[in-house]
Amino acid sequence: MELCADPAALTTWSDAHRVNGRRVALVPTMGALHHGHMALVDEARRHADVVAVSIFVNPLQFNHTDDFTAYPRPIDDDLAICRSHGVDAVYAPVAATMYPAGFQTHVEPGPLGDVLEGAQRPGHFRGVTTVVSKLFNAARPHVAVFGQKDFQQLAIIRRMTIDLDMGIEIVGMPTVRDPDGLAMSSRNRRLDDTQRRAAVCVPASLDAVRAAYAGGERRADELVALGRAVVEQEPLARFEHLELVDADTLQTVATADERTVAVTAVWFGEVRLIDNARVA
Ligand code: PAJ
Repeated sequence: MELCADPAALTTWSDAHRVNGRRVALVPTMGALHHGHMALVDEARRHADVVAVSIFVNPLQFNHTDDFTAYPRPIDDDLAICRSHGVDAVYAPVAATMYPAGFQTHVEPGPLGDVLEGAQRPGHFRGVTTVVSKLFNAARPHVAVFGQKDFQQLAIIRRMTIDLDMGIEIVGMPTVRDPDGLAMSSRNRRLDDTQRRAAVCVPASLDAVRAAYAGGERRADELVALGRAVVEQEPLARFEHLELVDADTLQTVATADERTVAVTAVWFGEVRLIDNARVA
C-alpha cells in the first residue's frame, strides 16, 4: 500500500496507473474508519482497478474548534484497516500541506449548500467542496464514491463535478447501519454507553415517518410531528431538525411523495448525529 503525504506523491501514484490504462477510484474520508467507509471502498473497487482512500480531518468544514479537536484520529488503526482491505494508496496529508501559508482560494457551492445542514452550519459545505476539489485535483480519479448518509453532501458534490466540468463519475452508496439501526459514523465513538443506546431514537424517528407514509399520511407537517415525537420521548436526545425535502432540489415539501427524503439532526450531549431516509 502506497502512503502519500503530499498532493504531488498522490498525483504521481495516480498518473502511473492512468498511463497503464487502469481506472483510478478515490474514497475521501476524515478517518476513524468503520464499515460504512469500507463499503465505499468495496464499491470503489467494483468501478475501478485501483483504489485510493484519503484521510484528512478538514478544518475548513468544522464550525466549532471543539468539534474539530475532539474528532477521533486513530491513524494507525485506519492504516491497518486500509491495508487489510486491499486499499492501494492512502493519502494522509497534514493540515499545513493541505492549506499552506498563503492559501486563499475556495470553491463556493450554490443554493444546495444553503439549506438543511448548510443553514445550521454556515460555511460547512464551502469547506467540503474546497477540500474535495483539492483531493480530486491531486488524485485525478475516474470515479469517486460518497455515502448517502451525507445526503446533501452527495448532492452538492454531484452538482460541483458537473458545474466545474470535472469529468469524474460520482457513485452514491446506501447508508451502512449497526444492527439496531443507528447509521455508522465516526462521531458515534464519542457517545457514552447510555447515549449510544438512546441514539437508536434517530433511525426510529425516520422509521416512524416511513411507517406513517406507508399508512397513507402525506402531509409533511404531520409526518414531521410523528418523527419528532419519537426523538422527544428520549430524555438524552436534543432534537435539532427533521425536514421532508425533495431528493433533487433539497427544498422542503408540504406534501410527501416517493421522491421525498426525511432528513434529521439530533444532539446527544456535545455530539451531533445526522441521518436521512427516503419516505418510500
Ligand atoms: P466522513 O464523515 O469520514 O465520511 C467519508 C465518506 O463516508 C462520506 O462519503 C460519507 O457519506 C461516507 N459514510 C459515512 N458514514 C457512512 C455510513 N454509515 N454508510 C455509508 N457511507 C458512510 O464526509 C466526510 O468524511 C467529509 O465531509 C469528506 C467528504 C471526506 C470531506 O472532508
